[in-house]
Amino acid sequence: MAVLTESDVRTALAKVIDPEIRKPITDLGMVKSIDISDDGAVGVGIYLTTSGCPMKTEISDRVKNAVADVEGVGTVSVELDVMNDEQRTELRKSLRGDSAEPIIPFAQPGSLTRVYAVASGKGGVGKSSVTVNLAASLTARGLSVGVLDADIYGHSVPRMLGNDAKPTQVEKMIMPPQAHGVKFISIAQFTQGNTPVVWRGPMLHRALQQFLADVFWGDLDVLLLDLPPGTGDVAISVAQLIPSAEILVVTTPQQAAAE
Ligand SMILES: Nc1ncnc2c1ncn2[C@@H]1O[C@H](COP(=O)(O)OP(=O)(O)O)[C@@H](O)[C@H]1O
Ligand SMILES: [Mg+2]
Repeated sequence: MAVLTESDVRTALAKVIDPEIRKPITDLGMVKSIDISDDGAVGVGIYLTTSGCPMKTEISDRVKNAVADVEGVGTVSVELDVMNDEQRTELRKSLRGDSAEPIIPFAQPGSLTRVYAVASGKGGVGKSSVTVNLAASLTARGLSVGVLDADIYGHSVPRMLGNDAKPTQVEKMIMPPQAHGVKFISIAQFTQGNTPVVWRGPMLHRALQQFLADVFWGDLDVLLLDLPPGTGDVAISVAQLIPSAEILVVTTPQQAAAE
């Protein structure tokens, strides 16, 4: 019988994908240690990105299952630890590059993500409904889709997706929650309860910039922006931040909406 080696276990761990970052845990510096006993019992030490990681159990289960499948492995135990600041900085650099400036990946030349801003002249015409349903159907077709709730005052994306999860934060990187396979971010995830947001234009611009640059969207095929009604600050910011964004106008037959 072949002797079980650390490299066998590492090969198995390379197939474990971090549920949030969606990359192998071995590429993310998340494997802390591998211990193999003579009787085939394997102990794996895993670094989580944050102590409050909501995916703790999921990651632990994925590791256990992957290692248990290796020939010669007896029992598998997983011990969780948390990255220190240096390790988190390394992780951010490996994911985002070394630049200090927030970079909007969708505005870079060569970006493969199609960005659609869903807009309308009036409120209540179905923008958010179109956005989330389009996102869910495109996801069902196998595309990787993100939704950015740019309707800061009238956010409704988390409710429509039926998910009020809070994003996890790794350093300055924000991991978007997922619902129906759609990654989404909304100001609702950062406010207490139903507190209204009362911001002027520059704050809106900054929030939008952060949602575009600091949220780790990964390689999206499509990003949908659910805009507030009208041609206000947010619409202007979108045009400035992602000049290549396309626009999808939603209207109802009423003249006041169509105009
Ligand atoms: N195609 C549709 N037919 C009927 N009602 C709709 C349709 N799309 C949306 N609605 C309803 O209209 C209201 C406003 O929709 P919403 O998507 O929130 O609009 P907006 O984002 O433009 O403000 C909601 O109550 C929604 O359920
Ligand atoms: Mg809306």
